[in-house]
Amino acid sequence: MSGPDLIVNNALWQGDMVDVWVDQGRILRFAPVGEVGPVCRKIDGHGALLLPGLVDGHVHLREPGFEYKEDIASGLAAAAGGGFRAVLAMANTNPVNDSAAVTTFMLDQAFRSHPHGPLLHPVGALTRNLEGQELAPLAELSEAGCKALSNDGMPVSNPDLFRRALEYASDLGLPVIDHCEDPHLATGAVMNEGRVSGLMGLKGQPVVAESLHVARDILMAEYLNLPVHLAHISCRQSVELIAWAKQRGVRITAETCPHYLLWTEDMVEGYNTLAKVNPPLRTADDVEALRQAVRQGIIDILVTDHAPHADHEKEAPMDDAPNGISGLDTALSLSWTLVQRGILVLDDLCRLWSRRPAEIFSLRKNSLAPGDPADFLLFDPDATWTVTPQILRSKGKNTPCLGQTLPGRVRLNVVDGHTVFHDATVP
Ligand code: DOR
Ligand code: ZN
Repeated sequence: MSGPDLIVNNALWQGDMVDVWVDQGRILRFAPVGEVGPVCRKIDGHGALLLPGLVDGHVHLREPGFEYKEDIASGLAAAAGGGFRAVLAMANTNPVNDSAAVTTFMLDQAFRSHPHGPLLHPVGALTRNLEGQELAPLAELSEAGCKALSNDGMPVSNPDLFRRALEYASDLGLPVIDHCEDPHLATGAVMNEGRVSGLMGLKGQPVVAESLHVARDILMAEYLNLPVHLAHISCRQSVELIAWAKQRGVRITAETCPHYLLWTEDMVEGYNTLAKVNPPLRTADDVEALRQAVRQGIIDILVTDHAPHADHEKEAPMDDAPNGISGLDTALSLSWTLVQRGILVLDDLCRLWSRRPAEIFSLRKNSLAPGDPADFLLFDPDATWTVTPQILRSKGKNTPCLGQTLPGRVRLNVVDGHTVFHDATVP
């Protein structure tokens, strides 16, 4: 047996303080603190929590085409600092990721800027140019390295086309991530339809714009006996449909985002474009339903839907500002607030951000046992930080958290035994 090439001292793992010995990209053992190890690189964990590397199943990294909002290098830097070992990057780039050329380009850019990770897994478009008219070359996308397929941002309204997409994707063994939104019901909407949109005189998107499409997908998944993964679920009605589907054994999985678990439509008051996101922030009742659903596993995973935009784009009237919240930098801290409030426990975070997404997207498993890949992070739950544009590694400064102080800080991120992020400000 070779010796370790990295030892992380003083990490809190399942209630015990341990030293993590890493060798050749794998966890060698958890040693009692203070056991004299061989000479190798050592990092002091200062008692921070050890967590399995996070997987974000839904990000927008904007390259190619919108590098002024984000590029793959800056997006992966934000992912590294956020504790992620892998991200799945959506296809609404320019050109759209509907060809091997774009997929290969994205993978090359990722390797060039972050050769040791976090890993970027491209998500191919379901339909050509995301137009919803004809299928994209799904086999070509699969061969080029796409890990999933999605028309995220531009929902597929034609059910027959969606059916064919599910059938092809299943032949290729690729999950389909569906953005559930009825385009007719959602036309022109800039926020949730309800009390606040009425007060503000803004066009609202009703929850049924989402849930109608959720119901369609569930019925289709049942009829075809094929899996469908539902993107960024935002409301109670969708949760209830998903619960019903799961009881029936329909092969449905679903995700939501920290912002839907924490904030309501009230956040848009004052015409706050930083809270403009699609699907929109809903009501306190929807938040409550989503919290219960993630606790119970009705919603399987958390994702950021990291949607970076430039300041000048968000500094616009509500109608003109683009949808989206920059999420990679703040994801774990926002999730930790749910633990602090007793809504989730630590193991829920490991399940929602690591175990389940790895299963759903067929990424390598990681239970942090000896012999497992050394994909882990250290998280200091007692630290706090104030969200400023400068501190965010993403180019997208568009988060409603700006100016807020958040709990918990990622101190170290190790992917495959390589240190991809280390907060050197800690002595
Ligand atoms: O808020 C959103 N932003 N929702 C989407 O569906 C697309 C995304 C984006 O690409 O900015
Ligand atoms: Zn998205």
